[in-house]
Amino acid sequence: MTAMVECRSLCKSFGVRPLLDRVNVRLASGEICGLIGSAATGKSLLLKLLCGLQASDGGEIFIAGRRLDASSKEELQQSRKHIGMLFQNNALFDFMTVRDNVAFPLVRSGATSAEEIRERVHQTLRAVGLSGSEEKLPAELSGGMKKRVALARALVARPALLLFDEPTAGLDPVTTARIYELLGAEQARTRATMLLVSSDVDGLRRFVPRLLMLHAGRLRYDGPSDKIDSSEDEVVRQFVRGADEGPL
Ligand SMILES: Nc1ncnc2c1ncn2[C@@H]1O[C@H](COP(=O)(O)OP(=O)(O)O)[C@@H](O)[C@H]1O
Ligand SMILES: [Mg+2]
Repeated sequence: MTAMVECRSLCKSFGVRPLLDRVNVRLASGEICGLIGSAATGKSLLLKLLCGLQASDGGEIFIAGRRLDASSKEELQQSRKHIGMLFQNNALFDFMTVRDNVAFPLVRSGATSAEEIRERVHQTLRAVGLSGSEEKLPAELSGGMKKRVALARALVARPALLLFDEPTAGLDPVTTARIYELLGAEQARTRATMLLVSSDVDGLRRFVPRLLMLHAGRLRYDGPSDKIDSSEDEVVRQFVRGADEGPL
């Protein structure tokens, strides 16, 4: 079966330090997977490569069987329609209302009528618990609300691939649980493929059945979330346990 995401020998460096050094990732359609690793290991970078926002130095990326890198601008735009991304900093447009922020992917794709857009935005905002906030500006929202607007914007076009960069960072435990619940409900409904980056390893591993751990340019772990504690790799064990002592 065609994978939703397939990276082969992906490479990326800034300066001399390789952040991604021949990384291979394969996500089956409908799979939910987490990506963990120390700060500045290149987790956000990998997500940006997967949605075509950054160019790699080498290797290949396929999304739903289509080559993403090395494709023309038009092809890239075509592929991007199937990808929803929640950015680490939310990346909301400050000058746009909540409604317009969420509508953006639908407006850009041009395939939906104004009425349909209104309805979809309304439904999605209700799903993330933000009904009634349509006319607000991002500056009027709390951190958790901004995160949920960004989430609504990632979900609104019902993309087949969803990339979430720190979807729960800075949120309280109740809001965090709520976000995971939302993502779970969305996945059950749409069977989208999801890749989530989170620094909250414990919260993440309760949600994802599979974890990848990026370390020094390579995937040091790629396996079941519930087996990562007993990984033979001391670096992996230390990281997930948050232990002081160890090779890290
Ligand atoms: N466009 C860029 N230009 C230069 N350096 C970058 C760029 N993007 C990321 N980096 C660097 O790459 C490293 C990894 O970044 P990032 O992917 O954001 O890490 P993570 O999300 O794992 O914390 C950081 O040291 C960051 O400064
Ligand atoms: Mg990051």
